Amino acid sequence: MRRPIHSIADARARAKRRMPRLMFDYIDGAAGEETAAANNAQRFRDIRLLPRSFKDINHRDLSATVLGQQFALPFGIAPMGMCALSWHGADKLLAEAAVARQVPIGVSTAASASLEDMCQWAPDNAWFQLYVGPSIDEAMKLVERAKLAGYKNLILTVDAQKVARRSRDIKNGFQAPLKIGPRQFIDLALHPEWSLTTLIKGKPELANFANDPADASFTRTATRGLLDATFLKRLRDAWSGNLIVKGITTVDNAQHAVEYGADAVYLSNHGGRQLDSAVAPIDQLSAVRAALPSHIPVFIDSGVRSGDSIVKALARGADFVFLGRPFLYAIGASGAKGLSEVFDIIEDDISTVMAQVGCSSVAELDEHIIFQHQN
Ligand SMILES: Cc1cc2nc3c(=O)[nH]c(=O)nc-3n(C[C@H](O)[C@H](O)[C@H](O)COP(=O)(O)O)c2cc1C
Repeated sequence: MRRPIHSIADARARAKRRMPRLMFDYIDGAAGEETAAANNAQRFRDIRLLPRSFKDINHRDLSATVLGQQFALPFGIAPMGMCALSWHGADKLLAEAAVARQVPIGVSTAASASLEDMCQWAPDNAWFQLYVGPSIDEAMKLVERAKLAGYKNLILTVDAQKVARRSRDIKNGFQAPLKIGPRQFIDLALHPEWSLTTLIKGKPELANFANDPADASFTRTATRGLLDATFLKRLRDAWSGNLIVKGITTVDNAQHAVEYGADAVYLSNHGGRQLDSAVAPIDQLSAVRAALPSHIPVFIDSGVRSGDSIVKALARGADFVFLGRPFLYAIGASGAKGLSEVFDIIEDDISTVMAQVGCSSVAELDEHIIFQHQN
């Protein structure tokens, strides 16, 4: 009998054992020397909370309302490309979990299930995430498809102007679409369980694009530098739903996003996968929150590895929190079961930490629960 996953670190260790190195490293890896990824998690740990008693915390409400929609939990699934590298059909598992747990799920431009399928599986929970490559027209076609599919929320990712050098991927020969040469074949052969259950059912693909190598409408490594004011205006005019700008780490960029018509600002350094010396978003959260009008929600991801971190982000002023890798570790470890266990762990952790700091609802979480260092 398989033991249940007991922490996100445990899920990661199990995924590492089960998955070929090529796949695990793509998910787990980060830019350069991976200092940003490590710092993201460390900066959450560095925040200390103030335990408080003498409050009635018997009932705790973890729900959060953002952009006019109520979610059962204050966290969601960040958009991630090629999730099926962790498990065949991982995108569907994530969509089903989003529905079951009543949380949002980001659907990547580079997803391994089509944006249409994802919206059918999770009509009220799926938020489409847009990458703008060299062709604005191709990007606008995706926006049209998202509209037709029924999406109401669009996440525009702005921090992948140039995909970073990720040394593990370079060393392992990782490419999307996946190419399997002799070295990768040995890696797969050494992980037969993954290879039999995942690869035999079909190689993970960039499902939003034709599987024709001549189709250059999306190239993972292309420079994506066209996010200027003209484009943002065109996008805002074309998209009447909520526009969320993701990949912000500075106050001036957050303000610009709002000036250009963003309905929400999503702080992120892409989980440290882009700029290795990037500041941790949690360190910019208070300043960004203070600089924006109060009706603009602020979301955050990068380095969230527990319910404890989620409570800290909410207390610092985030309206909602997203996690990326933890969900793929969970699936990579044991599919739908692992995903369900990790959701339970995070939910239970948030509820427990809220009780310890004397708060019975997400709305009560603010700076008063954070220890302020005296300099
Ligand atoms: C495997 C993987 C693929 C990702 N693909 C995308 C993507 O296609 N679009 C996007 O906006 N962000 C992408 N991200 C970044 C996530 O949305 C998110 O910002 C990041 O994972 C958060 O950090 P965390 O993994 O430390 O939680 C990806 C992250 C991972 C781990």
